[in-house]
Amino acid sequence: MATLQHLSDLDAQFYQPADAFFTEHRQVALTYDDVSLATLYSEILPCDTQLDTTLAEGLQLNIPVISADMDTVTESRMAIAMALNGALGLLHHNMSEKQQLSEVDRVKNHVHGLIREPVKVAPEQLIGDVLDLIEKKKFAFSTFPVVDASDRLLGLLSGHVVKPRYAKRKVAAALTPRNQVQTIGVKELGANPIARADKFFNDHPGIHKLLVVDDEDRLHGLFTMSDVERITQERAAQFKPARDARFRLLCGASLSATRNAFGELDRGRILTHVQGLVEHGVDVVAVSTAHGHTKGVGEAVRTIRDACPTLPIFAGNVTSAAGVEFLADAGASAVKVGQGPGSICTTRVVAGVGIPQLTALYVASRAAARKRVALIADGGITKSGDIVKALTLAQAVICGGLFAGCPETPGQVLEINGKLYKQYRGMGSLAAMKAGAAVRYGHSKTSVQKLAAEGVEALKEASGSVESVLTQLIGGIQSGMGYLGASNLSQLRERARYVRVSAAGVREAGTHDVLEMKTGN
Ligand code: XMP
Repeated sequence: MATLQHLSDLDAQFYQPADAFFTEHRQVALTYDDVSLATLYSEILPCDTQLDTTLAEGLQLNIPVISADMDTVTESRMAIAMALNGALGLLHHNMSEKQQLSEVDRVKNHVHGLIREPVKVAPEQLIGDVLDLIEKKKFAFSTFPVVDASDRLLGLLSGHVVKPRYAKRKVAAALTPRNQVQTIGVKELGANPIARADKFFNDHPGIHKLLVVDDEDRLHGLFTMSDVERITQERAAQFKPARDARFRLLCGASLSATRNAFGELDRGRILTHVQGLVEHGVDVVAVSTAHGHTKGVGEAVRTIRDACPTLPIFAGNVTSAAGVEFLADAGASAVKVGQGPGSICTTRVVAGVGIPQLTALYVASRAAARKRVALIADGGITKSGDIVKALTLAQAVICGGLFAGCPETPGQVLEINGKLYKQYRGMGSLAAMKAGAAVRYGHSKTSVQKLAAEGVEALKEASGSVESVLTQLIGGIQSGMGYLGASNLSQLRERARYVRVSAAGVREAGTHDVLEMKTGN
């Protein structure tokens, strides 16, 4: 393990570890730009660093980054992109519970090797019915196994015939018959079904679908060659997709501490919602509110924990040690820290509350360590260097603004004066609260017009894909770890030495005294 043996006494007087540094600076609350990290003797190359992080028992990410549960940031497309890159997306809850469940389905059913319950069609259906189904469910595929009432395989309806011109034909008249469909027996799959399917596709050029059947010819699954290829390729990647034990992408979903008409916590509704999410395969739920150190949030977390003893739960947001302890005692696995640091937040201005993020993270991290829960730094991150600083105190970060310009976010691209933008709004903005997010800010949906908003509606310049943004962020995190000689995130936390930066120091840290021709990559 890397050691701190190369620290000199002189360095130690100026560059201090977290306890000494934050205690000495307790008279002023600090955020990311207020501090810098001292470099240390290193034998670690950035490319050799490991970024995996554990946020709860059974919930491990390969990249410690989470996309915010905001209605202009994370729906299924964003959550898929995040998980494919080893990170996690938290689906927002400014939609009906039914819609949120179908968003979870989209993530969990995205490329997972063996599709155990493929969508099937019946021989008596019309091709037009199948086209309607594709349209209604927004399927990205158009080839379907055809089965009888007892699930016995009758053939395969190829995407080549699922066209409007054949709409009036019956599936039975257009399918590829059973004797021409390639199948494999369930028992032949062995311990490594993906390797078995990969071999099959190698041995059968031109065949792109392989159906799995039992001895009675009942359908048990489907492999597609493109899925198998992607999975085989990703096994060689440095940062693998974040997947569950059944090889499905990880997916989180947020919910609020819903109240009934009498203002009491609606335990029944919360539990029905969570049970639905769990049945659809969600990996973590987040009780996301602006003020997590409250009776309602504590009771909501306790209610979920009692009903689902092993389900990972994120809860927040807080900025105090007492808040962390309270949520940990209620059953949270990880606590979200951040009140007012977000790029679209006005909580500090409107309500006059909140703590600059690094001081809040330090205080919270000491309580989190005592309670053995993970900490998630939520909001205020504008560059990879902020993430490195946050990860010296927390196990992961949540970013909204950094991803809000990506094509994977919900919403249209707008063109203004030749530049492309995407909408990005705070969940406490009037528009988002009117659309349902008021509960997150402790208000009722019906009285929204009378509220003081705690967020703004904004635009973000359109950016590259989630993958390209994450690649830049990961590169920055790895550089930071290399400078500190940390090969993994626990070494980063151990080795961090902080120094206070002056206003002139902040100016020095950015580019200066040049005419910039090109920004970053
Ligand atoms: P960034 O800085 O990544 O912050 O854009 C995203 C985080 O901001 C929080 N959030 C809000 N906070 N008013 C607030 O005070 C709001 O309207 C609002 N909307 C989102 C949230 O924690 C998110 O993850």
